[in-house]
Amino acid sequence: MTDRSIVLVLSGPNLNLLGDRQPDVYGTETLADHVATAEGAAARHGLVVEHLQSNHEGDLVEAVHAARGRCAAVIVNPGALTHYSWALHDALAAFDGPVVELHLSNPAARDEWRRTSVVAPVATGTIAGFGGDGYRLAVEAVARLLGSTAT
Ligand code: DQA
Repeated sequence: MTDRSIVLVLSGPNLNLLGDRQPDVYGTETLADHVATAEGAAARHGLVVEHLQSNHEGDLVEAVHAARGRCAAVIVNPGALTHYSWALHDALAAFDGPVVELHLSNPAARDEWRRTSVVAPVATGTIAGFGGDGYRLAVEAVARLLGSTAT
C-alpha cells in the first residue's frame, strides 16, 4: 500500500559533485543543501523525503521500481540521463503517482542536445531553471497534487 507521506527524490549522475561542479551553471550549494531544502518543504506539508543519488542508471530504475505502491510521488533530477534514458522513462511510466522532473539549470536554454528530455513525456510537470529553489517548488507542486495541507 502507498504511504501517502513519502516523496522519493532521485538525483542522477554527477549531481554528487554539486557545489564544486560548474558553479557558474549549477550554483555553489551542495546536493545535501538541496535535499535539506526539499526536506524542510516536505515537513511543512506533512511529507517525508527519501533521497537517492546514483551515477548508475540501473540504481535509479530500481529505486523507481521500489517506490511503486510505497511512495506517494517521485521528484527526479536525472542529470544527463534526462536526455537519453528510455529505461528511466519506462520505469517512471510504471509509477502510479505524480512525477516531477527537476533541473537546476534550464536545459532548454543550453546545448542543443539538452533540449530533448525523454523523461518529460512521463512527468506530471517539469521545474527547471530556478536553481536550488526548484527543490522547494517541486515539493510544493507534489504537496498540491497530493492534496496535503500546509502547516
Ligand atoms: C541538469 C541538466 C542536465 O542537462 C545535466 O546533464 C545535469 C544537470 C540540471 O539540473 O540542470 O547533470 O539536470
